[in-house]
Amino acid sequence: MFDFLKHKPKKAIPTFEPLGIDIHCHLLPGVDDGSKSNEETLACMQVMNDAGFKSVICTPHYQYPRFPNEETDILNRFDSLRIDLNGEGSPVKPQLIGVAGEYRVDSGFADRIQKNQFLLVGNRFLLVEFSLHQQVIGLDQVMFDLQMKNHEVILAHPERYPYYSSSSSKLQRLKDMGVYFQVNILSLIGFYGDGSKRKAYEMIDKGWVEFLGTDMHNTLYAQALIDATHDRKVIKLLETHKFLNSEVTSPQPFKTKNI
Ligand SMILES: [Fe+2]
Repeated sequence: MFDFLKHKPKKAIPTFEPLGIDIHCHLLPGVDDGSKSNEETLACMQVMNDAGFKSVICTPHYQYPRFPNEETDILNRFDSLRIDLNGEGSPVKPQLIGVAGEYRVDSGFADRIQKNQFLLVGNRFLLVEFSLHQQVIGLDQVMFDLQMKNHEVILAHPERYPYYSSSSSKLQRLKDMGVYFQVNILSLIGFYGDGSKRKAYEMIDKGWVEFLGTDMHNTLYAQALIDATHDRKVIKLLETHKFLNSEVTSPQPFKTKNI
């Protein structure tokens, strides 16, 4: 009798409205392991709109040699995507408001720092990620070099690095240096496993986490985002905890922080 309910596709609810902006996703098609087409991007954006996001900043991978992206090409592709999906009179939401990068701290990273060759989130923040398998060698020097160039750094999904616990002295050191942390929304529902889920909440409880991001890659992630909008613990978190996503494009968002 309730068969039609069982098969009714669940729709996202606007749980993430307080965030406003998604600062981490892979919706620029064809440049990394994210979206493969405008259609796939569109399907993901529909869910993000239902989930409460008003704006999106695309952050394709820059990772040597797997994703040898180049800033000029990324900017051109983003302009085309924006014309196709958000062009004048288009009803498509959310707005694609910017393109930056998720920069892997790898063997090519020192060269990037040297050239100061980065696209920044909100024209201000440098989003970086580490390998999921091994710790960065010489991380202190990398962070020092970034600070010498006055970069304000956001570390993507600290909860996903298996070699860091939520009480890691290395992560504590990054916080002491003023590095911002961005947890993946899907970690909060166990999309990457129980360990990442536990660490995500523990880091939030410690006051370490300034940003949430979807890290949306494709429609599989979009389905999981729908589930996240209905998760009671996630709903409570968004009601009680202030994240800084919506301030990422403000000129002076973080008066209490001094990097
Ligand atoms: Fe990512």
